[in-house]
Order: sequence, then structure tokens, then C-alpha cells
Amino acid sequence: NIEQTLSIIKPDAVERNLDNEIKEMFTDKGFKIIKDKKIQITKAEAEQFYKVHETKPFYNDLCAYLSSGPIVVMILEKENAVLGNRELMGATKPEDAAEGTIRKKYGISIDKNSVHGSDSVENAKIEINFFFKD
Ligand code: CMP
Repeated sequence: NIEQTLSIIKPDAVERNLDNEIKEMFTDKGFKIIKDKKIQITKAEAEQFYKVHETKPFYNDLCAYLSSGPIVVMILEKENAVLGNRELMGATKPEDAAEGTIRKKYGISIDKNSVHGSDSVENAKIEINFFFKD
């Protein structure tokens, strides 16, 4: 079943001009980039986006970080896109990520881990709607 998921290329990767290389890693794996845009969000918007992590000790730093510079947000489409995106991203901590994953290749730390991806089909819908209201 064809799914859509939301992907964010985070400030650490955009700052290093890795957005095109990362997009290529997605398209090489058969993801279609349905929509994409480079934007910078406010801290308040980041807080809303990451609301599920509200109670976590890293919430404030995470929201400050995501709003610290330009990001690229994308709608990706593929068979089982949500899981496929998580596999291609690799583990949250780049040092734990498998060879061939985006975070292994480009991630710097648990915070500067280069990409975000929706963790379920349900959250993908919410996250896509957050950035692409139409
Ligand atoms: P992401 O997939 O964008 O979802 C939430 C982010 O919080 C995660 O990637 C990490 O970059 C960041 N983060 C920072 N500390 C932690 C932690 N201890 N556990 C999980 N995520 C963390």
C-alpha cells in the first residue's frame, strides 16, 4: 500500500548543503518527492510540531535547534513509506545507525542527526498537514 510520510532535512544538513545529496538518497530508494520547500520556522512552531515530546528533558533544546536555521520539508511517497523512511534514516543516534543510512553518513550527534521522519501513518498525516496545509 502506497503511503506518504513527512521528512525534514534538519538545519545541520541544510547548513552543510547536503539537501540535494539527501534527496538523492531518497529518490535512489524509490521515494517520490511529492512536495518540498525550504523554510525556517519559529521556535513556537517547532514547539507545536514536537508537542509529543513536550515532557522530555530535551524538548527545549530540540525546538531551539529545529528553528535555528533553514530546513527542507518534504512529502515522500512510496510503498510502505513510513517504515521505509525510518529504515533509510537509521537510528536516532548517528553512532548507532546502520551502514548506508542517512544518519550514519551525515549525522553529527543525537540532536544534529540530519533528518526527521514521521513514526506512524497517523502522525505522517498530522505532520504533512502541519507543513502543507492545502
Ligand atoms: P527526531 O526524529 O526529529 O525526533 C525527536 C528528536 O529529538 C530526535 O530526532 C533527536 O534529534 C532529538 N533528541 C535529543 N535527545 C534525544 C533523546 N534522548 N532521545 C530521543 N531523541 C532525542
